Amino acid sequence: MAVGGMAFYISKRSIPKYAVHKIDIKVESTPARVTQGRKLASMLCRSCHYNPKTDEFTGRELTEAPQFGKIYSANITHDTTIGIGKWSDGDLISFIRTGIKPDGQYVPPYMPKLIHISDEDLYSIISFLRSDDPWLKANPEHMPASKPGFLTKFLVTIGAAKPFDFPSHVIPGPDTTNKIAWGRYIALYQMECYSCHSKSFAKNNYDEPEKSPGFFGGGNQMYDVDGKEIYSLNITPDKNTGIGNWTEAQFIDAVKSGTVPTGPPSLRNPMQPYVGLTDEELSAIYAYLRTVPPIDNKVERKF
Ligand code: HEC
Ligand code: HEC
Repeated sequence: MAVGGMAFYISKRSIPKYAVHKIDIKVESTPARVTQGRKLASMLCRSCHYNPKTDEFTGRELTEAPQFGKIYSANITHDTTIGIGKWSDGDLISFIRTGIKPDGQYVPPYMPKLIHISDEDLYSIISFLRSDDPWLKANPEHMPASKPGFLTKFLVTIGAAKPFDFPSHVIPGPDTTNKIAWGRYIALYQMECYSCHSKSFAKNNYDEPEKSPGFFGGGNQMYDVDGKEIYSLNITPDKNTGIGNWTEAQFIDAVKSGTVPTGPPSLRNPMQPYVGLTDEELSAIYAYLRTVPPIDNKVERKF
């Protein structure tokens, strides 16, 4: 009785609103920031917000997130009613860090929040979102409202899914002269490779990524765009079950083009080819991954 009542209560709930962390800031746009922002957004935002039909960031149905309900990513073009043309720079920064929209509405984990990315990288993303890039041209294409399913509402109700606190201090960029520190920044804070490559999204420690169970040991279950189950792979230096025997060149090729020494076939969605990363950045990630504790966990690629 009590359990049934609780389930009924949860299924009737909507996603709650929260207090917005207001910030007053105008991000200065420079050509360098727009370029860096486009590079970051092409790897961090495009996979969900790009719609091949419009060839723009008008949003699409996220068929790879069936566990969360029927979810649509939003139109984030310059359109002032359907898109984000009216959002201020502060609104965007606050939302991307915490997950709370200007009206207080919280967006659950089907949109990842960038809680550790450097202020400079975030300003670059904002500069790009404000730019005249063709992906962002005002387009009134409307996305249906998302219909979060039971799991999403459950996670929100028990407090397992909730907004992140706005960072209390300036987040500096990595020291790029220290290869391992640079690689760590990209893999944990910028591209967040660990979030898919550790044991489970639900168990990840987002505040302190290294404390995530099965850190980089793979086996995290997710879905591809057709809703088919797929598991992330072990990319710790374990020689038998991880990538301990891979050369740097093999690693760079795999992450950039999807070609793996153990393949074919190539790596599949939702692992995307990180074409935007330079060989220096990939070399830094490789150097960093060599330093993480090896985990003995064999994950089979199922086809
Ligand atoms: C894994 C998928 C995913 C990724 C990656 C992603 N988003 Fe989203 N985003 C969503 C979804 C889903 C929503 C809409 C949620 C809802 O139904 O309210 C959304 C909503 C938004 C909104 C709110 C728009 C509005 O009008 O309500 C903004 C702004 C936004 N995203 C920007 C970004 C930016 C910038 C990036 C890259 C740094 C990004 N998103 C990456 C899935 C994603
Ligand atoms: C959205 C989740 C996701 C993110 C983010 C992600 N990966 Fe993956 N990755 C996967 C999945 C799923 C596979 C397995 C694909 C398959 O079996 O075809 C994979 C496979 C791999 C492989 C192949 C390993 C092997 O043994 O063949 C490497 C290497 C890899 N990822 C590195 C990275 C790096 C580096 C990053 C960050 C720059 C990253 N991944 C980010 C999901 C992700």
